[in-house]
Amino acid sequence: MIKRIIKFKEVSSTQDTAKRFIHKQEEVAVSSLHQKRGRGRHGRTWISQPGGLYLSLLLFPRTRLTSIPLLASLAIIKVLEDYDFSKLSILWPNDVLLNNRKVCGIICEQYKNAIICGIGLNVNIENFPRKLSNATSLKIESGKDLDINGIVKQIVGRFNPLYNELQKQGLKIKEVLNYIVGIGKSVEIITSKSVIKGIVHDIDDDWALLLRDHIGMIRKFYYGDVRRLSW
Ligand code: BTN
Repeated sequence: MIKRIIKFKEVSSTQDTAKRFIHKQEEVAVSSLHQKRGRGRHGRTWISQPGGLYLSLLLFPRTRLTSIPLLASLAIIKVLEDYDFSKLSILWPNDVLLNNRKVCGIICEQYKNAIICGIGLNVNIENFPRKLSNATSLKIESGKDLDINGIVKQIVGRFNPLYNELQKQGLKIKEVLNYIVGIGKSVEIITSKSVIKGIVHDIDDDWALLLRDHIGMIRKFYYGDVRRLSW
């Protein structure tokens, strides 16, 4: 349960700043208005100019949880629904889409006995570099500037009860199933060990993705990155 949000104006990466609080073994959130070296998955850079929301949740889950990124995606969707956004979906397990474009990316890193869940949400950003042609922001979709610190507080507020329920094994996958996109579609799953093509078959009861590979075998993934292939 996160009881404290520690706010900064500028850091290198909130993922690294969060590590500084690990010795207290207290679950906290670290946010910043700007990051000099924001990082995304697979060693990519996460462009972190002012106007975006940059948040890291330092967590000490009691059980081994592979579903933290999906849980964070669900918390963000609930917050955005509170702001009256619709057409929200989750590209399992790390990306939140708004109108089918990426509005939020999530990275979960293990560090000592902690999991640091990093959330990058495009709030008031108006322009993206050309190579991020599939990105969008809340400002682009609504025409409005929103209060970033207010959203940070709401994300933590929505995350906490979901996290508690999950740890008590009380949270059912059907909570997120409605939002998942891509079932029946062609994708590539990228893990640290392999890249496998197939068709998304389903999401399992334990929040894993089931992929039908080219020989028809169903493979189960607890983590990984999904790349959409021609859809
Ligand atoms: C991705 O889609 O590749 C994940 C992007 C995660 C970005 C967030 S912003 C807050 C936290 N600090 C970082 O350096 N990265 C994450």
